[in-house]
Amino acid sequence: METLGRVLVIVPTYNERDNLPAIAERLRAALPEAHLLVADDASPDGTGDVADELAAKDDHVHVLHRPAKQGLGAAYIAGFRWGLDEGYTVLVEMDADGSHQPEELPGLLRALEEGADLAIGSRWVPGGKVVNWPASRELLSRGANIYTRIMLGLPVRDATAGFRAYRAATLEKVGLADVQSQGYCFQVDLTLRTSQHGLRVVEVPITFVERTVGTSKMNGRIMAEAFWRIFVWGVTGLPGRLRGSRA
Ligand code: GDD
Ligand code: MN
Repeated sequence: METLGRVLVIVPTYNERDNLPAIAERLRAALPEAHLLVADDASPDGTGDVADELAAKDDHVHVLHRPAKQGLGAAYIAGFRWGLDEGYTVLVEMDADGSHQPEELPGLLRALEEGADLAIGSRWVPGGKVVNWPASRELLSRGANIYTRIMLGLPVRDATAGFRAYRAATLEKVGLADVQSQGYCFQVDLTLRTSQHGLRVVEVPITFVERTVGTSKMNGRIMAEAFWRIFVWGVTGLPGRLRGSRA
């Protein structure tokens, strides 16, 4: 087992002021050494101010203030860049709304220690669970993953999952400069790139708990972007994206 070095947990936020303090506290308790970066898209509800208050009291908490709502993917790319510049060696993605349980993070990090280049907290492998999702949302997630598997042939059960741990080296190899995905298809995009680079993707079962506070930012535009981008990646064979990787 190797030591992983410095861990940064990136939490993108848009209108999560009532969720952020609790998730920050749970993270700090579950992984005291890790740092937290809140990537806020100028939330109208003042989440950015709440994040600043947390950062003022705790040197393990940082805030990236972004000018406007530009999508989950764009927020993560900005957060990854910040973390790589600051020399973190593991970059974690986690939602602010409690759906991803910080207490399950050690399991993701263990997968990296055991050799994974990307560890995905998966709902759809044996042992994975979803709590409190309406049937419609479960159907959407399962359907999106079946569509992704058919279009891209990825050997991953939960390619849209947003609870993950990347080695910094993985992100450096994969490269972020030409990632165009703005919304939730960013997750599929980076899974595909990681796999195409011949890197090791490991799924760790998690229990995803639907939020009890605030609302999901999923919408038709996000779904449409995912649908057409995955379609294009599938049918074009990704020209220009396959440098040095399997077809
Ligand atoms: N900065 C920023 N900008 N944050 C955003 C944006 C954005 O445009 N859109 C969403 N977020 C943040 C939310 O505030 C939350 O912390 C997290 O991203 C996830 O958003 P939700 O709206 O709660 O997502 P969900 O529960 O519907 O979707 C979950 O499942 C998806 C599909 O599997 C998430 O886990 C996604 O990551 C996942 O792709
Ligand atoms: Mn959510």
